[in-house]
Amino acid sequence: MMSATPPYAWMNGEIIPWEACVLHGRTQGAFWGANVFEGIRAYWSPSAGQLYAFRLEDHLQRLRRSMKSVRLQVAYSDLALREACLQLLRVNAFRDDVHIVVVAFFGIGEHFDTMGLTEDTGVHITALPKPRSDAYRGGVPICVSSWRRISDDTMPPRIKSGANYLNNRLAHQEAVRNGYHTALILNQRGSIAEAPGSCVVMVRDGRLITPPATSGSLEGITLATVASLARHELGLVVEEREVDRTELYVAEEVFLCGTLAEILPVVSVDRVPVGDGLPGPLTARLQDLYDRAARAGTAAGRWITPVYDIEPAPDVAGDVAGTVLVRG
Ligand SMILES: Cc1ncc(COP(=O)(O)O)c(C=O)c1O
Repeated sequence: MMSATPPYAWMNGEIIPWEACVLHGRTQGAFWGANVFEGIRAYWSPSAGQLYAFRLEDHLQRLRRSMKSVRLQVAYSDLALREACLQLLRVNAFRDDVHIVVVAFFGIGEHFDTMGLTEDTGVHITALPKPRSDAYRGGVPICVSSWRRISDDTMPPRIKSGANYLNNRLAHQEAVRNGYHTALILNQRGSIAEAPGSCVVMVRDGRLITPPATSGSLEGITLATVASLARHELGLVVEEREVDRTELYVAEEVFLCGTLAEILPVVSVDRVPVGDGLPGPLTARLQDLYDRAARAGTAAGRWITPVYDIEPAPDVAGDVAGTVLVRG
């Protein structure tokens, strides 16, 4: 058992003790990974004394799309799940950056039929403090995996399902065993799909270029945030197109982006230094813009949900005014 766990979790409509958030081993969710999930961050702003859930509605909408794709129906609306996430953050009284995981799962089902469609379903939500990675400023070395990405005609990467993540796990663990931080996975056509837990972006001739979801990546919410910040705050061109492995060797900058990874500079690919082998200037600017947005600074309006029922501190009131999606 982990030592430092928060006191509470949420399951099927109730706040419960962390330890009680368990599924029977014969649920389809636990046995087959027959579930869909979302990882969501909430960011603590010391100056505002407030915790902000980041793009909560967007994550819950993607969860709903995953559910639709696997024909999973649960008894909770998006609004109910949104309130559940906020309630869980409040009862745990977090004052740190937090990672929330919402999982919708198939239960045991009729006659223990492990593959049958069942109305026995549920949802659990857990949240843990998640400080920023040490590699956030210094960057990480990555490699191209020997594993290929699952594809839409086998296990659709668009669906954020536990079962899909065996593919990601194989690639990630191979990379770590070989001394890299993580890997990039090629799709069946041999072009870049994504990293095991994040999308990838390269900078070439000052433009941001990223593989489209049809290359085998998740429809990334962090990627959408980065693209919006790059276009609207920095006036950059953002292009979605197939990306070859060797383009990364000659790119000016490369970074990973995802809810957990945030914006993570890549300093080498297959031991080939990216640029001069240090985090690039555009990556650093995007990190700062993203951080300000996540902690209720400029451009945050449509993306943040305050968790606690407090008035914002005067020094941030200007930024936050008119942007509050929910109070209390
Ligand atoms: C496989 C994969 N790709 C990309 C991402 C990044 O997606 P997002 O930015 O929506 O978290 C994630 C993280 O959830 C992921 O697991």
